[in-house]
Amino acid sequence: MDVLVIGSGGREHALAWRLARDETVRSVRIAPGNGGTAAVGENVGLDITDTTSVARHAVRERYGLVVIGPEAPLAAGLADELESTRIPTFGPMRAAARLESSKAFAKRQMERAGVATASAASFTDPDAAVAHVRGSERVPVVKADWLAAGKGVVVPETHAEAEAAVLDLFGSVGRGARVVLEERLDGREVSVFALVSGESVVPLAAACDYKRLGDDDVGPNTGGMGAYAPVPWFGRSALEQMAAEVFEPVAWRMARDGFPYRGVLFAGLMLTDDGPMVLEFNARFGDPEAQVLLPMLDGDLASALLGCAIGDRGLMESSVAVRVGAAVGVVVASEGYPDVPLIGRRIEGVEPSSAADDGEVLCFHGATRRRADGAYESTGGRVLTLVGRGVTLADARASAYRGAREVALNAGQYRTDIAARDATTDP
Ligand code: AMP
Ligand code: GLY
Repeated sequence: MDVLVIGSGGREHALAWRLARDETVRSVRIAPGNGGTAAVGENVGLDITDTTSVARHAVRERYGLVVIGPEAPLAAGLADELESTRIPTFGPMRAAARLESSKAFAKRQMERAGVATASAASFTDPDAAVAHVRGSERVPVVKADWLAAGKGVVVPETHAEAEAAVLDLFGSVGRGARVVLEERLDGREVSVFALVSGESVVPLAAACDYKRLGDDDVGPNTGGMGAYAPVPWFGRSALEQMAAEVFEPVAWRMARDGFPYRGVLFAGLMLTDDGPMVLEFNARFGDPEAQVLLPMLDGDLASALLGCAIGDRGLMESSVAVRVGAAVGVVVASEGYPDVPLIGRRIEGVEPSSAADDGEVLCFHGATRRRADGAYESTGGRVLTLVGRGVTLADARASAYRGAREVALNAGQYRTDIAARDATTDP
């Protein structure tokens, strides 16, 4: 089949790379793609939130499968538009993608499905929200109820900080804003991924990611600075428990309510003293979690995603399996990221992974482009993900950092502690 991957980040380079390695895949194109995805397939210059023109392109090119990577086109209704073309599409329709795009909707569905989550209240009136902060014994977590690209959550230490965060969020959007105040939870965080098609659920794997910019979790929040899998303290039985307690009830609830979910569902969990609780859902693979998980899948990913898209449970279930071993991903970001990333810097040292690349160090491009002279340059904040693979997390970590050290990006920055707490040997 011919496959179209929608998106332009490291996640999409990893998706395109993995799909291009499948026996059932004849060609992969990426819209709009980046400098690195061009090493895997042809980039197509489309505005991916212009759902009509993407659908028109997809019909003309007769793709056998469209895989939507990021949240923005999902929230814009790209899957809805493709539905009417009958091209198999991996990614939820807009009403189902609200599990990510609306925290209030996600909360309601979790409560109705009986899924453990922090208690929360949602507000459209700033005064009522401030009153709620003042009336809460513990300082609540403050969340924007719209897609805020990782910047919509504040975990304040004091009531005054919480109030300021509430006013700041309302002020940034104005009328019609909705803010969620949530009970603060403590524990270890883990990201869990499952393929969901209607009521069918295939749990994939868990991964840990790093949201803060600096080592030891200091500095501002980012889109994600690294990830690793497997998670030694969250194994197969924990994953199956989450399938039964989180993914299946939510999938059932969504189907019952007339918004059947189709695509990858990503649950952000906090492992509290009272058991695992869901912090959030995302309607897509994580970035950079995808860069470590996808290289760990054996089998035919395209068939699994197609099975999910067309509701063929058998195909979805039997096509992929997670292999033994480990993967660690280190994100190399631009100077100035996440505030004002300095762009247009030349990248040297490691070639982007092509479909033939099955080595110990993979290089997935994010915000890059290829110049007319063939050199690569940065175009945004998260530039590269170097993924190391090995038998153990320590091996994988050593390979990932070997890759990161070989890359030359002027004043680029990366964390040096990705997977350190769970890999016993330092690189
Ligand atoms: P979210 O986008 O909802 O995953 O939130 C981003 C980050 O904020 C999470 O990864 C957590 O570290 C933190 N966070 C979110 N909700 C809570 C909560 N209820 N209690 C403690 N930390 C939270
Ligand atoms: N790495 C977290 C995310 O993609 O949302």
